[in-house]
Amino acid sequence: METMQAMRERRSVRHYTSKAVEPEKLNAVLESVRLVPSRHNDQNIRCIVVRDPAVKKAIHEQANTQPMVEEADTLLAFVATDALDFVMPCGQYGYTADMYLALGYAILAAADQGLDSCIVCAFEETAVKKILNVPCECRIPCMAVIGYGDDPSPRKVKKELDQLISYEAF
Ligand SMILES: Cc1cc2nc3c(=O)[nH]c(=O)nc-3n(C[C@H](O)[C@H](O)[C@H](O)COP(=O)(O)O)c2cc1C
Repeated sequence: METMQAMRERRSVRHYTSKAVEPEKLNAVLESVRLVPSRHNDQNIRCIVVRDPAVKKAIHEQANTQPMVEEADTLLAFVATDALDFVMPCGQYGYTADMYLALGYAILAAADQGLDSCIVCAFEETAVKKILNVPCECRIPCMAVIGYGDDPSPRKVKKELDQLISYEAF
């Protein structure tokens, strides 16, 4: 699929069938995480792939019991591993930018592979870290589920370009 087509066709899918994601498709998604830009190319990321139903169930309980967390074949947790106190000159924490960019690549790569996905940010980070055995100094800003959707809800309407874009100044 072309990149623009993947962007147009992707939407957040919140219910899933039990169909497993094929290894080559999962690898393509994970390869996108390997290739993603990061500050100084440091790649201070550990992307944890969660497919064990018991672990997904435990995380589901710490993620507002969002059904997709249990239903989807695969959950990806984006763990920031180092340089967590680095603040960019613009005032933003570098690691959140790195993790969200990786998340964006992953959901786009999933769409490219014909997979559905949804971002998961409503979760108890401390509890999820414990479940996944993540060292306490690391952070998990975001997660995503990927799989085969069973959710007929329509694609969201997006604002027109002229509502979002201006040139040269605000
Ligand atoms: C930072 C962030 C956090 C989000 N957290 C959740 C979440 O916890 N659960 C959920 O169902 N969707 C979550 N979403 C998905 C958004 O609700 C969704 O992207 C938005 O409604 C637009 O719909 P679309 O993805 O279909 O274009 C999140 C999206 C972003 C960018």
